[in-house]
This record gives sequence, structure tokens and C-alpha cells, in this order.
Amino acid sequence: MKALILAGGYGTRLRPLSCTKPKLLFPIANKPLLEWVLERLSGVGVSTVVLAVNYRADMIRSFCGDEKYGLKILYSQEKTPLGTGGPIKLAEKVLSLEEGEKLLILNGDIFSNVNFDELKKVHDEQVSRWGAVLTLTLFEVEDPRRYGVVETNQDGKVLKFIEKPEQKEGVSKNINAGVYLTDQRIFGYLKEGRHSIEREVFPVLAEQGLLFGYKHTGLWMDIGKIEDYMAANFKVLEQTAKNQPKIGENVELASNVKIIPPTIIGSNTKIGEGSRIGPYTVIGENVSIGKSCRIRESVLFSGITVESGSAVTSSIVGDNVSMGENVRIGKGSVIGEGVTIANNVKLASKVFVCPYKEVNFSVLRSKHIM
Ligand code: GTP
Repeated sequence: MKALILAGGYGTRLRPLSCTKPKLLFPIANKPLLEWVLERLSGVGVSTVVLAVNYRADMIRSFCGDEKYGLKILYSQEKTPLGTGGPIKLAEKVLSLEEGEKLLILNGDIFSNVNFDELKKVHDEQVSRWGAVLTLTLFEVEDPRRYGVVETNQDGKVLKFIEKPEQKEGVSKNINAGVYLTDQRIFGYLKEGRHSIEREVFPVLAEQGLLFGYKHTGLWMDIGKIEDYMAANFKVLEQTAKNQPKIGENVELASNVKIIPPTIIGSNTKIGEGSRIGPYTVIGENVSIGKSCRIRESVLFSGITVESGSAVTSSIVGDNVSMGENVRIGKGSVIGEGVTIANNVKLASKVFVCPYKEVNFSVLRSKHIM
């Protein structure tokens, strides 16, 4: 079996963080999302992974190289973004599937524990029974409007596929979870150039009775939006650091530092006297936090400096941000990579700061600083 990961989206909903980092390299509990995905693929009989890249491809290439977790990594590079169908067609040659070889296709921004063995079992049954071309992983959500809604019959055959329905009433709650199993026959349904597999291929396969569903009931999160990205971090915090904070190597904690779980602190980070960190907080590697700081319900990337007396609440702070003394970052703010914030600056809730800005004035209303 080979795997293809769609890894080329701009991630516009994750701006300003995605202006300098592709979504797949966003850390979840201090480990890039792509690493979580590759780690899971390494134990399920996948030999080769092709990454369909476009935006910030250089960063993805230097992160993965040509081998990771024992998986051979190849790249399919688009010149322009080809959507969700075009990159699969473009990757046909690089994948060079052999007769009967399976292809697992993954949207790269999904954080889940889909059971690939179960998916394969269900797909193989549907292939021998009905000649299935593709099996979609399905997941039940309360409000399916942001997703592709899938209606199946009792045999698991997809009767209808509706991408992003306008109403949530009267439609199924089972959505396309962005994890598919197929084989080389899929290339016959895809064209060259930009197109959407969800809008242009799945409805055709459903019409022909060749599209099937496998219901996943475990963990599934799409990290496409800021709130979802935070939620994925909080989920791992609950699973791994609920009662006891997880502290990396060479972390220096001064006296009277209070770490409230669930909290994860990355290696080589220093925390000054009297600071309180947590709950629901992830601090990256090589972060320096001064005296009497207060950081809670937040995700701090790596290489950040926070000087004494500063506070961050329910926010995300990008790599290498430098924060002066007595700074306040209010709820729902997102600070882009390399931003410098002067002493005593207060940012109210939902302030979004673009990368490398210098902020030396307070902002008392929700605002984008560009
Ligand atoms: P938004 O701009 O916030 O919608 O994010 P996005 O560009 O990543 O789009 P979306 O969330 O719909 O993408 C779902 C998956 O497909 C992600 O893993 C993306 O990286 C990937 N993807 C989206 N567009 C492209 C593309 O044009 N080329 C490739 N190779 N992958 C893509």
C-alpha cells in the first residue's frame, strides 16, 4: 500500500500563523501535525508516502527529507495549486502503483486515529462484493455544513454526496473525514488541472454505485480553523498531561513556579520565579519566560521570549515572538511569527498580528494588525 497526503493548501483560515508555516507543520502538543500522521502510517503496511506539495513546499521537504519513520518519502510538486483532485492526478506517475496495489489518500490537515486496517478490511469486502472504486472514511458531527455530507444505505454504499450543504436539517450527520482508500482505477475519474475531488468525482462515483463508506468513531479533528487547531492541542493535553504536567529535557524552572496541568513544556525552556503556567497550555522549545508571568489556555510555539510580568490568555503565539515586560495578550489573539511587542502593550481580545510586525501601542478592540 502507498499513501498520498494532500499537503499543498494555503491554510488561509489559519492566518497569520500560516503566512510563514504550512498548516501541516503546525505543532500539536509540540509535534508537527505531519509527524503525527507519518508516525501512524508507519505501522500499517504503507511503504511509500507521496506528499502533494505546493505552498511552502521547501519547508515540508526540509522537514521530511526522503525518509521518515521508515517510510520512503517522495514529492509531487505543483506549479500552481490544483485543489483536491488535480494533485492526485498529478501524483499518478510519482506513485506508480502496481496492479492491485492500494492507495490511501489523506487530507493532511486531519488529526485522527482512523483505524487503517479496519478501513482496508471494509474496502476489500466492498471491492469483492460490488467492485468499489473508493471507500470514504465517515465521521459523525453535530453540524455538517462545513463538510461533505454522505448518505449511505445499509450496505455502506454511498447514495448521495453533497459538499457543504446550506442547511443542517434533513441531511445526514455523517461527513467525509478526508481519509480514502482506493487503487489505480481512481486516476480514470480525475482530470489534469485544478479541480475538486469532492465536487467533481465523488458525486459521479456515487451515481455509479462505486463509492462506499467506512464509519470511524474514534478521534477525528480537522485543524483548518484557529479554534479547531486549539482544540486538537487541548485534546492531546487531556490525553497525555491531565494529572501531571509533561516537562521536556533541560527545562529550567526557577523557585515558586507553578505549573498547572494539563500543561506541556518543551525542552530547553526556562521559566522565571513566581510564574504560573497552565492549565491547558503548551509551551514550545527554547522559550524563555521571565518572572511573575501568567500563561493559561494558550499555545506558544518555539523560540519565544516573554519578559517579566507579562500575561497570555487563551491565545496562540507564533515562533520567535519577542514580548516585553508587563505585556497583556487577551483571549482569542493570534500573534504571527517574529512579532516584537514593546513593554506595557495591552492587546485586547481577538487581536491578530501579522508576522514580523513591531507593536508598540495598545489595541483595545478586536483588530488585525497588518
Ligand atoms: P484554507 O485556505 O483555510 O481553506 O485551507 P487549505 O488551503 O488547506 O484548504 P482545505 O482546508 O480545504 O484543504 C484540505 C487539505 O487539502 C489540506 O491538507 C490542504 O493542504 C490540501 N490542499 C488544499 N488545496 C490544495 C492544493 O491546491 N494542492 C495540494 N497539493 N493540496 C491542497
